Amino acid sequence: MKSILDFQEKKNLKKKISMVTCYDYSFARLLASSEVDCMLVGDSLAMTMLGKSTTLDVSSDLMAVFTEAVVRGAGGKFVIADLPFMSYRKGLTANMTSIEKVMKAGAQAVKLEGAAGNLKLIRHTVDSGVPVMGHLGLTPQSVNQLGGFKVQGRDEAAQRKIKEQALKLQEAGCFSIVLEAVPSSLAAEITASLDIPTIGIGAGIDCDGQVLVLQDMLGMNQDFKPKFVKKYFEGADLMIKAFNNYHNEVENGKFPTEKESYS
Ligand code: KIV
Repeated sequence: MKSILDFQEKKNLKKKISMVTCYDYSFARLLASSEVDCMLVGDSLAMTMLGKSTTLDVSSDLMAVFTEAVVRGAGGKFVIADLPFMSYRKGLTANMTSIEKVMKAGAQAVKLEGAAGNLKLIRHTVDSGVPVMGHLGLTPQSVNQLGGFKVQGRDEAAQRKIKEQALKLQEAGCFSIVLEAVPSSLAAEITASLDIPTIGIGAGIDCDGQVLVLQDMLGMNQDFKPKFVKKYFEGADLMIKAFNNYHNEVENGKFPTEKESYS
């Protein structure tokens, strides 16, 4: 996918959208060679790439560095960059400076979490020519307010609120909304009520698309096994095996051979 028009077209044609998070040039090149529709430079990089326990400690400057690397490898495939924690809650000028950084790094759209207090900024951003993806349900930047990384929208009041927020994000001009960790029935209802596509993670089969964190889908983190993740590759096992093969060959004098040596 090359533009936000492709997102809408896929929804209209009832074709599913696939998105994977990406944080570096090498994986962006692999994703660019795949059929995956688009890449998200998620602020989850705080956890997957930097080993932090939440997504809170990332700056716009850091997001711009990772975004630039991904865009360089993405071969023109659509790249969305997350706006980090607090970077869009500081008043219009500071917010726009943060958006400018990731857009100038090459992103084609930004994603921000939540609706309350963000609608005016979303309208201004869209009017400034920057497509905005929303994010509702489990919004990891609010982990302290939510009391942990928990499924959202379990009761009727919470469901009503998320449905209302989705409509408000659409009205404000979002071109798509991520729904994270909400009951499948709620995600299905929201998806049917919106003109714009929803992209789910832990939100069931009825969303217009799906997103997974790259390290999760490639099975690179042996300690992380949440219900919503499906492993498409035994990355940790296979890579550790490769590291061990290399180590043993070095230790036993089997690497390098003539083939890997200069005469
Ligand atoms: O940062 C991220 O990886 C995300 C996805 C989980 C949607 O926001």
